[in-house]
Amino acid sequence: MQDIGLVGLAVMGQNLALNMAEKGWAVSVFNRTTSKMDEFLEGPAQGSGIVGFSDFEEFIGSLERPRKLILMVKAGPAVDALICQALPFLDEGDILIDGGNSYFHDTKRRTEELQAKGILYVGAGISGGEEGARYGPSIMPGGNSKAWPHIKEIMQSISAHVGKKPCCEWLGGGGSGHYVKMVHNGIEYADMQLIAESYDLLNRGLGCSSEELESVFSHWNRSHLNSYLIEITSKIFAKKDADGAPLVDKILDVAGQKGTGKWTVASALDLGVPLSLVGEAVFTRYLSARIEDRQRTGESIGDDVIRLKIAKKSFYKRLEKALYAAKIISYAQGFYLMHEASQEYAWDINLGACALMWRGGCIIRSAFLGKIKEAYDRDPNLSLLILDPFFKKALSRSIDSLRRIVVSGALNGIPLPCFSAALSWYDGIRSRRLPTNLLQAQRDLFGAHTFERTDKPRGNMFHADWLSGE
Ligand code: 2AM
Repeated sequence: MQDIGLVGLAVMGQNLALNMAEKGWAVSVFNRTTSKMDEFLEGPAQGSGIVGFSDFEEFIGSLERPRKLILMVKAGPAVDALICQALPFLDEGDILIDGGNSYFHDTKRRTEELQAKGILYVGAGISGGEEGARYGPSIMPGGNSKAWPHIKEIMQSISAHVGKKPCCEWLGGGGSGHYVKMVHNGIEYADMQLIAESYDLLNRGLGCSSEELESVFSHWNRSHLNSYLIEITSKIFAKKDADGAPLVDKILDVAGQKGTGKWTVASALDLGVPLSLVGEAVFTRYLSARIEDRQRTGESIGDDVIRLKIAKKSFYKRLEKALYAAKIISYAQGFYLMHEASQEYAWDINLGACALMWRGGCIIRSAFLGKIKEAYDRDPNLSLLILDPFFKKALSRSIDSLRRIVVSGALNGIPLPCFSAALSWYDGIRSRRLPTNLLQAQRDLFGAHTFERTDKPRGNMFHADWLSGE
């Protein structure tokens, strides 16, 4: 009998099947279009021991009980269609794992619907792209926890590892696996935008050449900023086009997106959680896409940038610190969101495990995530990362640099949406008093929305006759 069945042989599915087979698991595969499966079995899967089935019932019948089935099909109706197709052949206790990029509300619904039928449903976010799927992705499983003991060994064997630790751990209930993957992608947007803003300051602001940029980012990659994104950025600056000019200079400045950043921000809006860096990162991609409007406006009102008048070496150091501070703040926002979602949906998300899983195999992998894991080891229910002693101290050492960097951007005309958002959030969340009292007064004046008073217990609402003295 086979250990696991995989449905959906697009590149991710193929690579995951090969990965599992390589780790010694007996894998059955099925694909709606049989010819694609045959190409796979005769091509990359030759000699792997993977067995293909053109008949769905025979495919399911080949699996050891409880049956373990991983779906690697297009997110959306295809997943529901496949669940319907599989259900008549499944028994109580069988396990369905969705390894695609499903929307977490769908996963939440499917977990609940299938639980009522005795089927253990798992939504597993899989990160790391095609390479990751083949050689070790970050895997974020959540859903019906009864499934975990049966799939743990397989999942952890194929995931990325940092040292001996697998980048795969049970996350929590319902749609938590896909939720955490979604927030991972949102954080990735903010990480990338912060790097892009740093590049803008160095390039347009300071006039750094591509050689200097490569050197600055390589240097940063040996500091506490060490991460995959910083590493690839240094490599990007080293790449020359056919004519010897830096290739990056020739790339059109219009960013694409697949929508997971938008989903993350939408969820933050639904839950009432400030997630300003990811929000700004998404908006900045939209702004970049409005290239004709930018050309027209730049032509009309000018697009000058004032050169920064500062020694390069000291600016590099300041920017490194500011980037570190902004990154801490961005992750604090992301973890705050996951903490709130966990409470709202009663998922009991293991936040320390999120940090652990993101340390390897995925785009935002970095040394820094090890520090976040340590913070959650100290306090598994930590809602605000910036209150952890390590991060509190790290921010106290770097926040001044963030302030100066934001000032440089503002004075010199370089847009720094994410750096600025980071600073505003930091100054907001530490404000025991915000000017929101005035806002409440305005709401009460024009709409009788009432207000609470500082000198009365919470929940007591007051209304004033604001214009009586006029
Ligand atoms: P296909 O090769 O038959 O198109 C990514 O698109 C993967 O999802 C492919 O393996 C694709 O199968 C599969 N897929 C997409 N829609 C599907 C559906 N409605 N039912 C089954 N598999 C589907």
